[in-house]
Amino acid sequence: MEKSIKNWILETRNSAYCFGINDDGYLINTYWGKRKNKKTDYPLPIHTEGWASFDSPANLLPEEFPVYGGAFHFEPCLKISFADGVRDLNLKFDSESSSTEEIKIILRDIYYPLQIILYYRPHTDYDLIERWVEVINQGKESITIERIFSAQWHFPENQQYYLSHLSGKWNDEFHLTREALTTGVKVLESRRITSSHHHNPWFMIDIGNATETEGDIWFGAFAWSGNWKLAAEVTNFDRTRISMGINDWDFAWRLNGGENFVTPSAFAGYTENGFGQASRALHSFIREQVIPHRNNSHKILYNSWEATLFDVDEKSQARLAEIAASIGVELFVLDDGWFYNRNGDHAGLGDWWPDPRKFPRGLQPLIKKVNQLGMDFGLWIEPEMVNPDSDLYRGHPNWILHFLTRERTLARNQCILNMALPEVQDYLIEKIDRLLKENNIAFIKWDMNRNVSEPGWLNPPGDPKEIWVRYVQGLYRVWGELRHRHSDVIWQSCSGGGGRADLGILHLADQIWVSDNTQALARLQIQHGFSMAYPAITMESWVTDADRGKLPLSYRFHVSMCGSLGIGGNLLEWGEEERNEAAYWISRYKNLRGIIQLGDQYRLGLQAMQYMSRDHQHGVLFVFNVGQPGQATTVKIRLQGLHPEATYEIEGFSEIKSGLDFMSEDIDFSLSPFESTLREIHQKFII
Ligand code: DGJ
Repeated sequence: MEKSIKNWILETRNSAYCFGINDDGYLINTYWGKRKNKKTDYPLPIHTEGWASFDSPANLLPEEFPVYGGAFHFEPCLKISFADGVRDLNLKFDSESSSTEEIKIILRDIYYPLQIILYYRPHTDYDLIERWVEVINQGKESITIERIFSAQWHFPENQQYYLSHLSGKWNDEFHLTREALTTGVKVLESRRITSSHHHNPWFMIDIGNATETEGDIWFGAFAWSGNWKLAAEVTNFDRTRISMGINDWDFAWRLNGGENFVTPSAFAGYTENGFGQASRALHSFIREQVIPHRNNSHKILYNSWEATLFDVDEKSQARLAEIAASIGVELFVLDDGWFYNRNGDHAGLGDWWPDPRKFPRGLQPLIKKVNQLGMDFGLWIEPEMVNPDSDLYRGHPNWILHFLTRERTLARNQCILNMALPEVQDYLIEKIDRLLKENNIAFIKWDMNRNVSEPGWLNPPGDPKEIWVRYVQGLYRVWGELRHRHSDVIWQSCSGGGGRADLGILHLADQIWVSDNTQALARLQIQHGFSMAYPAITMESWVTDADRGKLPLSYRFHVSMCGSLGIGGNLLEWGEEERNEAAYWISRYKNLRGIIQLGDQYRLGLQAMQYMSRDHQHGVLFVFNVGQPGQATTVKIRLQGLHPEATYEIEGFSEIKSGLDFMSEDIDFSLSPFESTLREIHQKFII
């Protein structure tokens, strides 16, 4: 990190992010793009007079952290109301304090005792910059924060930009959309208390000519599992910026004298090598710096949900476990239905102890059996939820989110616990900790199956609208404490599929259950979208019975082998041939998962996915015919990620050719409708 009093240069391996203070005292972005040869090559802060009497200089400048105050009319990052009714901020640079890890820029209001600290942390190896903000009320009187974003990111001016983003709904997540940005504000957000199925807190920006392998890409993600907002704004002066942060919709935070508020982190990066490289930068970062069990590949799991729904008991699960073990499964997960009075979705949530009718001897005999079969044991829970028909609700009806004078809207017959309440947090920590202490549980699937309604609580400590943030803070406390006490446990984040997939939850969970849709063709699209932001190691994917009899088992396996493989079909109904074939693919996956889960991923279109080991010596290629029945197709594939100078052999082809050659010419795969193929790639020798 290079700094002078008025100019900061943050260089990563291939990119640079620069900002400085101009003559008028504005803290502005000066550069974000390809790393330059010398520090002197980066531009210095610019000055502007503004635009007549209508647009102040602030409206024309790429301010690092614009605030609501003065004559500024675009999207600010911070809006505060002071105790005397003033709603205007006037921040000036105060000082900086930097370490080898990060830069701290300290700003102060010119009148009120208010300090704002902007944090910048470059993640050099990943070409990423992490930013977050702290607000410190150094006065005695309370102030109200009405908006606080973590960062505003500016792109070079006078360009037409295209925004890529992910949206969807339950059972249909991670649709990739790319659209031109025009003057005005495009908002992506969640108002659902989770990061949500509806939009994902992630973006990529390009200038219209980018491909998977080439072109300037600016990309980013927000590490927060609650309401968030992304505002992509093109100003009338042809400046494009993206702000990211906690959603200011229905939000307010009372900051008493002496208190501080710290935002979650926003991450963003730049590459000149297309969408694929932008994704790989995020993938590597998540795999190596975010998830709890870094660089540890996942076991192949069996989950009985789609096979048995709520109809679980010791005997039937033991039978499934036997078959699962016989085909090579390594982790047996007992899903919904195991706890007290849980015979459907109308009762039980909140009472986290085994149902005595289904598990009269508790969970231990089943766990013992699973362990004897050589597998780990995993369990499903949905801690944030409660059914009105539960001992927990009967004992504590006020522990849920609600407004006193309003009906409590149920969804899937359940209410949401107010995770902001310390007593709720303590209850959950105690119950789940006990489960983990008393049973040999190696894996927990943490589910969350509804969106919010009536986000009220009776005696909030501050502004009632703090609930959105305090809920997530409470969730993080419970999950973080349990993770701390049981650090070997692998946690999976599920919210009816991919409703809570974000960099915040990935600090706690190693995996995401990406969608409840387990149909192979739908899944290809969902997995493609998911891969834009998140690595294969975090993508749990099951082979179920959804396409049984319609698509070949090999096809369904190939789709699921593109992530962290699991099995979710009713194994009791699978014939010997199916079980043998499953055992074959499971054993192949065991040999390849090091490459798939820990290597680099290359999207070769919707029809093909390639993975290469980090040393580029070994790879795996999956090719799918997704066409209409009756049409034999040639699927043309252009490989990526090979070492140009090395020679490679691709399973099923006799020629040995250079990486350069393979990456310059299409390979034809003749696949009949709904046929797929898996090919290993191996380096032969260096020319
Ligand atoms: C939703 C999840 O996505 C499913 O996999 C399953 O765990 C059910 N909940 C159980 O209720």
